[in-house]
Amino acid sequence: MRQNLRVNGARLWSRLQRLAEEGARPDGGVCRLALSDADKAGRDLVVQWMRELGLTVTIDAIGNVVGVRRGEEDGAPVMIGSHIDTVATGGRYDGALGVLGGLEVIETLNDAGVVTKRPLAVAFFTNEEGARFQPDMFGSLVFTGAMALETALTSVSIDGRKAGEELKRIGYGGDAPVGKPNVHAYVELHVEQGPTLEAEGFAIGAVEGVQGISWTEFTLTGQANHAGTTPMRMRHDAGYVAAAIAVHARRIADELGGDQVATVGALTLSPNLVNVVAERALMTIDLRNTDNERLKQAEARLMSFAVKAAAGEGVTLEARSLARFDPVPFAPHLVARVEAIAKAFDLPVKRLPSGAGHDAQMLAAICPACMIFTPSAGGISHNIAEYTKPEDIAAGADVLLRLVTELAE
Ligand code: GLV
Ligand code: MN
Ligand code: MN
Repeated sequence: MRQNLRVNGARLWSRLQRLAEEGARPDGGVCRLALSDADKAGRDLVVQWMRELGLTVTIDAIGNVVGVRRGEEDGAPVMIGSHIDTVATGGRYDGALGVLGGLEVIETLNDAGVVTKRPLAVAFFTNEEGARFQPDMFGSLVFTGAMALETALTSVSIDGRKAGEELKRIGYGGDAPVGKPNVHAYVELHVEQGPTLEAEGFAIGAVEGVQGISWTEFTLTGQANHAGTTPMRMRHDAGYVAAAIAVHARRIADELGGDQVATVGALTLSPNLVNVVAERALMTIDLRNTDNERLKQAEARLMSFAVKAAAGEGVTLEARSLARFDPVPFAPHLVARVEAIAKAFDLPVKRLPSGAGHDAQMLAAICPACMIFTPSAGGISHNIAEYTKPEDIAAGADVLLRLVTELAE
């Protein structure tokens, strides 16, 4: 009976589209930055759905929301989770799929009258994206005890607000004990956000782990001066040094090859005027690699170049680490189950690493954890055009349903 259960793909799709109305951008994308008004509206909607499905909802002090479905026995639930915050130019599926896929699993079991032995839980964690507050994933970091609550509460957003104040403002600083409930196993369904599954014709990704992530912010300070009168030899041009560092980051990634990637995603010059040598440059560097030793090499090479480039131009350099996470392997027995279940459903499945960071990598520190990927059209994500076909979404949710019901027995 349970073996034959399938999710209602149309119902899951319609919830995804409904949630996308909260924080909808005029261009069809979504802007639901963590702890913003739009995030509050999205949270309210998902909490309402959780309650309608009979889940017992708790909210902890960093705003993580957990909805529990009772099992035949008490004990640690099997948790399905992800996030509902987005980057400012986000799509409809990153994060939302994992949470609403979880609700679809619950509703399918409710409809079929199935009660699992262990409880099930659906969770969404605060600030997975890290687009408004750093580090990213601080909700799941606090949940698992890897970060002090106070550190996350005092994180200051890119618009100058403290996370703790924003939580209070939107009414999501809850009183549930942080890190509860204990979790028996954690499963996250997510869009791949990269090109591999679609390009190679796979429907399901069995995710073996998450690559290492290193985020650094550089502040370069030189001297503003006249663009026409200042001889090149007398310049202290922060913009020039920032540009050189950005080019060098690309060179490091090209030279290291393999999985190494490097991104300068934010760069602000000031005063940012056509005829003024830039006094200040604020830039971020995102370096990632599945191999931690190579990631460390990339970090060291970048830093040594930045120090030299700044000194050569008479510009001061300040570096601040925004996030640093080692690569995380997922539980091999769960990865194998994702693969086996997909095969049992006749879904072409590939093992692959995750290029993006996910709450699952934090949960992996406290329980067996794994992820299921669905293909991303054109490999596009963190973009309003992010898209996954409804049939791929339903297939991913079917694998999720089968896996969590197995784990809850
Ligand atoms: C989170 O989306 C990340 O940057 O990997
Ligand atoms: Mn995500
Ligand atoms: Mn994301």
